[in-house]
Amino acid sequence: MTTTDATSTRARFHRLRVVEVRPLTATAIEVAFAVPEALADVFAAAPGQYVALRAVVAGEELRRSYSLCRPPSPGRLSVGIKRDPDGRFSTWAHENLRIGDEIEVMSPGGSFVSRAARPGGHVVAVAAGSGITPVLAVATALLDADAESRVTIVYANRSSTDVMFVDDLADLKDRYPARLTLHHVLTREERAAPVFSGRLDEERIRLILSRLIDPASVDEWFLCGPFALVETCRTVLAEVGVPRDRIRFELFTAGDGDAPALTGGGRAIRVRADEPVRRISFTLDGQSTRVDSPVAAHETILAAALRARPDVPFACAGGVCGTCRARLVEGSVTMTENYALEPDEIDRGYVLTCQSHPTSDEVRVDYDGGGAR
Ligand code: FES
Repeated sequence: MTTTDATSTRARFHRLRVVEVRPLTATAIEVAFAVPEALADVFAAAPGQYVALRAVVAGEELRRSYSLCRPPSPGRLSVGIKRDPDGRFSTWAHENLRIGDEIEVMSPGGSFVSRAARPGGHVVAVAAGSGITPVLAVATALLDADAESRVTIVYANRSSTDVMFVDDLADLKDRYPARLTLHHVLTREERAAPVFSGRLDEERIRLILSRLIDPASVDEWFLCGPFALVETCRTVLAEVGVPRDRIRFELFTAGDGDAPALTGGGRAIRVRADEPVRRISFTLDGQSTRVDSPVAAHETILAAALRARPDVPFACAGGVCGTCRARLVEGSVTMTENYALEPDEIDRGYVLTCQSHPTSDEVRVDYDGGGAR
């Protein structure tokens, strides 16, 4: 997705109606929302993107990002939500979301989208658990769009009962038997071929590459799962000479229980008149705002900005989703984590404001040029 009018396309929430809640496994559901005609452009998405959901749970505003599980279709979008035992949002969604409910859904974002696939090319995805969600959308779109393309999916789960979208994957395989290769790896179940039983660790990934996938045949790689799996895959792919720009990755944390507690109102901080501060200015929807942040508080730009404007965009607050992206136009920052920005975006001055701590007295960022991608 390219940004033409930054002010009108930056990520923001809209109330959407739930039109379907479908069980996928004992711990996962697919939730579909109706997208009114008037919001069709706002919710135009690329396969592999995500939306953030926002709800008030037990008196606290919570936001979580969930990947779209299907290629874009008019009037509807669907996400997969896996229930995490410690996850307040996913538990709330599983127990409460019903057809007819309305909740706030952010316009789509994220860069886990195809950029190197070519007609007749080969794309490989490695996913674990709910990491299959965006992979399913990407694979379906590629196979539907190009009658010569090939997709290989390596999908790891604990057991066969944990496999999300098992019917959808089987249907896709039925539709494209010669062009889709699907390898299920189960960590706690014996499979006929030993290569598919056990943890998807470095050794097993090397084994799969040496026996089943020739890296030289692959145009683009999609990695989606927990940090350890994604990092292991990136290491092995680098070893076998895969260029970094051929690899897309998206991190799925173990659950949603440990997402940082940022709310629309920001953390209460009292700025004393005599203490040194960082002066943070930001532009959002064409309006400039300034907020002072005590040096001793070591706040992120996002945390400080939320005190002044509760509508500043964010979702994960963990450096993963990219929703809080903005362009640094003055001053300097250090970023703690970055799993969302590509090197070329950093070169163009973009930062993740949820991870950016000012290192100069004056800092200015522009959200209007850094929202949707
Ligand atoms: S809010 Fe997700 S990266 Fe900053």
